[in-house]
Amino acid sequence: MIGAILPPSVRWAQSFTDREVALFPQEQAAIAKVVEKRRVEFTTVRACARDALGALGVGPAPLVPGERGAPSWPDGVVGSMTHCAGYRAAVVGRSAEVATVGIDAEPNEPLPEGVLGAIARPEDLEALAALPTAAGVAWDRVLFSAKESVYKAWYPVARKWLDFEEARVRIAPDGTFTAGLLVSGPTLLGRPLTGFAGRWVAADGLVATAIVVEQGA
Ligand SMILES: CC(C)(COP(=O)(O)OP(=O)(O)OC[C@H]1O[C@@H](n2cnc3c(N)ncnc32)[C@H](O)[C@@H]1OP(=O)(O)O)[C@@H](O)C(=O)NCCC(=O)NCCS
Repeated sequence: MIGAILPPSVRWAQSFTDREVALFPQEQAAIAKVVEKRRVEFTTVRACARDALGALGVGPAPLVPGERGAPSWPDGVVGSMTHCAGYRAAVVGRSAEVATVGIDAEPNEPLPEGVLGAIARPEDLEALAALPTAAGVAWDRVLFSAKESVYKAWYPVARKWLDFEEARVRIAPDGTFTAGLLVSGPTLLGRPLTGFAGRWVAADGLVATAIVVEQGA
């Protein structure tokens, strides 16, 4: 699933079932008061993240939700996590090679009534309308997922909120998408961040999107 849209510079792991893994005290504290569903998704995605970190040669470390929910990563590592019904995934890279990462997974189903209007700009809607309808892909969901990946790649470098209206996203049927930022961004790779390029995939009843900004890109 997610591996199909990631470059070799990152390591990843995914799970279609719930997993248990030993949590660090800081992680346990972060979920001390949550419901069981949240405990299970939190734990499973951290099991995935431990596997991905291991593939990178990095030992287990506490991955604690911090400012605005952004998780902590070990020094020298960037990463991103996602969970939706029946799927969890984590992607990590060495910050010497990868500047930022954002991933998101969603059910391959049309967005609930009213959501598209809340997350899409007029030009997003125009671009959606031009996509092939018979492709078996819920394009509005891909748009939503792409915007979530944009936020997850944006936040660790910008450290500020980005609204759905502050990025225009154009999805291409070939499995790619581009996002243009409509607010001034931080400096990334020695120049102002103006947007992202990402990839999407639809498989196993899910859609997933990923943005990996490599150093030197
Ligand atoms: C934070 C947000 C992107 C999470 O997406 P989601 O589809 O609800 O949930 P997912 O399961 O895919 O992702 C959750 C994971 O995202 C990560 N995450 C949460 N906040 C984050 C942030 N500020 N920066 C980076 N990653 C973040 C966490 O790892 C979290 O899992 P965890 O709590 O177990 O550690 C979403 O809830 C949100 O607030 N969106 C509004 C902002 C936005 O999307 N703007 C659009 C800009 S174009």
